[in-house]
Amino acid sequence: MQNFEFYNPTKIVFGTETISRLAELVPSDARVLILYGGSSAQKNGTLDEVKSALGARTVREFGGIEPNPTYETLMRAVEQIRSEKLDFLLAVGGGSVIDGTKFVATAVNFNGDPWEILLTHGQNVEGALPFGSVLTLPATGSEMNCGAVITRSETQTKLAFLSPHVFPRFSVLDPSKTYTLPRRQIANGVVDAFVHTVEQYLTYPVGGMVQDRFAEGLLQTLIEIGPKALETPEDADVRANLMWVATMALNGLIGAGVPQDWATHMIGHELTAAHGIDHARTLAIVLPSLLNVQREQKRDKLLQYAARVWQIDSGTEDQRIDEAIRRTAQFFESLGVKTRLADYELGTEAIDNIVAQLEVHGMTKLGEHKDITPAVSRTILEGAR
Ligand code: NZQ
Ligand code: ZN
Repeated sequence: MQNFEFYNPTKIVFGTETISRLAELVPSDARVLILYGGSSAQKNGTLDEVKSALGARTVREFGGIEPNPTYETLMRAVEQIRSEKLDFLLAVGGGSVIDGTKFVATAVNFNGDPWEILLTHGQNVEGALPFGSVLTLPATGSEMNCGAVITRSETQTKLAFLSPHVFPRFSVLDPSKTYTLPRRQIANGVVDAFVHTVEQYLTYPVGGMVQDRFAEGLLQTLIEIGPKALETPEDADVRANLMWVATMALNGLIGAGVPQDWATHMIGHELTAAHGIDHARTLAIVLPSLLNVQREQKRDKLLQYAARVWQIDSGTEDQRIDEAIRRTAQFFESLGVKTRLADYELGTEAIDNIVAQLEVHGMTKLGEHKDITPAVSRTILEGAR
């Protein structure tokens, strides 16, 4: 196992009827900005519940954070915080709202051009306003990690940053708040959590037995409950497990002490930035082809994945790997998430553009071995046509 440090200060308050706990979680003298997305939090009553839990505190609102949150929108929240002298942020929504809040929290007192936060991937962040979250969409793990992904619409640039200053102080996870999610977002959440786990598991063996077994447990849980979450939307146990599995998939635990890949995400971010495809759908396009192209480097782990996650134990090594990749893609398709570029009406021209954008953004040595050059990314995308 590799050396590691593990740090995660986010307090999780999990379960039904937990939004009222905001009364104690948010400091009583806080001047709060609630940040939210489009209309879902208003329509399903979550926003009202949040406001009522905050009681007599000074509360302002900033709505309209879009999926794949943009720098342009978020800078308006920064202005509001400065002009109204607000000092505590509360994100109410999915990954986009939480990520957006993380950026706003760092940008408010940032010395210099806040876009630099993204260009340096967070290395120059020295502080952030305190914030918490109320999660309404299980998928990204943003509620319990210190990463965020922000898009500059002007240049179609989607970049990530990481900083220990942007762990949420707390996150309220009430699975019943997911009942109003459309099927498409539930399917996206299952795929995103699945790929987060794979990006930290399916690399090369380093003897991380705990991390491997945890990861395999998360993957098997997703395979078991993913279809149920679509079939029986108001099954409380299924939704509770979906919410917790997605959080556990990207809160640092399974990635500690093991190599990590993340090439699927970096290529996927370009597909979202250029074509507006949902984050999880880009991952479903890239991952099966990436596993195929990187099969030599990943051989040992692919065989372990085939045996332990999909119970494939007959055939030659290559047949078992082929079958594991086929089942992975089939699992995504079974949730209604398409896995080929052609399904999104993209062809050769799009591939040329994505490869060019990867170069512009310095994504030229991706993967656990840093061997996914633009030429390899091209091969991966060609394989996903
Ligand atoms: O905007 P509203 O009206 O609220 O609707 C949202 C949005 O349209 C809707 N929604 C959320 N909760 C709902 C609901 N609709 C009904 N009922 C509810 N309870 O769902 C739509 C999608 O929301 P969004 O927040 O965009 O989805 P998700 O949570 O999948 O977040 C995706 C973003 O997270 C980033 C992605 O790149 C993308 O920008 N990621 C962040 C990561 C992180 N911070 O660690 C890691 C991930 O890999 C990912 O890159
Ligand atoms: Zn993701």
